[in-house]
Amino acid sequence: MTVKIFDTPEVQDFLKSVAGFDQAGGDERTKQIMHRLLSDLYRLIDDFDVTPEEYWAAVSLLNALGGETQFGLLSPGLGFDHYLDMRQDAIDAEARRTGGTPRTIEGPLYVAGAPEAEGFARMDDGRDQDGETMWLTGQVRDVDGSPIAGAKVEIWHADSKGGYSFFDPTQSEYNLRRTIVTDGEGRYTARSIIPSGYGVPEGAPTDQVLKALGRHGERPAHIHYFISAPGHQHLTTQINLAGDAYTWDDFAFATREELVVPAHRIEDRAEIARRELDGPFSEVVFDIELARTEAPELQVRHKRPRAKEDEQDQASRLAGAAKV
Ligand SMILES: [Fe+2]
Repeated sequence: MTVKIFDTPEVQDFLKSVAGFDQAGGDERTKQIMHRLLSDLYRLIDDFDVTPEEYWAAVSLLNALGGETQFGLLSPGLGFDHYLDMRQDAIDAEARRTGGTPRTIEGPLYVAGAPEAEGFARMDDGRDQDGETMWLTGQVRDVDGSPIAGAKVEIWHADSKGGYSFFDPTQSEYNLRRTIVTDGEGRYTARSIIPSGYGVPEGAPTDQVLKALGRHGERPAHIHYFISAPGHQHLTTQINLAGDAYTWDDFAFATREELVVPAHRIEDRAEIARRELDGPFSEVVFDIELARTEAPELQVRHKRPRAKEDEQDQASRLAGAAKV
């Protein structure tokens, strides 16, 4: 088929009307973006001779994604989260806010309001018998190497089966989620369990999209962080544990070389006793450097719908309903 109608005046006028250009009300930026988005999609339908069957299959898939609140999972899978990071890196570079630990994606599974502790916290509830004990520690520093006391380190990660508390109702409230305020030397320490990687649920709408692209939906074992301190740029990042089959093949594109961290197994009795543990454990050390900024809006995490962030907010409630 060689029918091409996109460039006809009829279609161009039609697009302007669909985008509300002939209406006084609405939001101007939304109109401009929708006009561009719809134009690109209309052109695509023309260029690829998209059939009605293909079009309605896509609508059905979007309904399924929305029904399971999985757009937040598909988004990193299609690289949007990483692309936004790439743009933010470029914006920082242009503003000469360089240095510091690299950012990487937040993902959809943060839950606001985790318990806060000074210097040290135990993050696991002791019920996950399959989880190897993890001693996670590090120092938060300025880009010139000075320790930052009182920095807020928020950490969240999966259990030994790859599930996150809140989204996995079998786990206790805020299991494997804590906020630790750094001590006088800028240090934080958590006792927890080594997380497992996880995959997009088999057969879920996100899985269907990835399979159609010949891709897998697996993530390596990883640990999420938000780090903030007055006078410093808020950092959203995560570490991928070295040696996982997917460390360098993460479906969410979160891996960055500086953020791959080994877990060292320690069996020395004195080291075990020093940490008041019962047996061998794995130590993970992650030091963090924060870039300086005086801009208040850069010292806090950017706004987005998050579970329990604002319980009155419909977007936050939806974020908390993600089936992942
Ligand atoms: Fe995660």
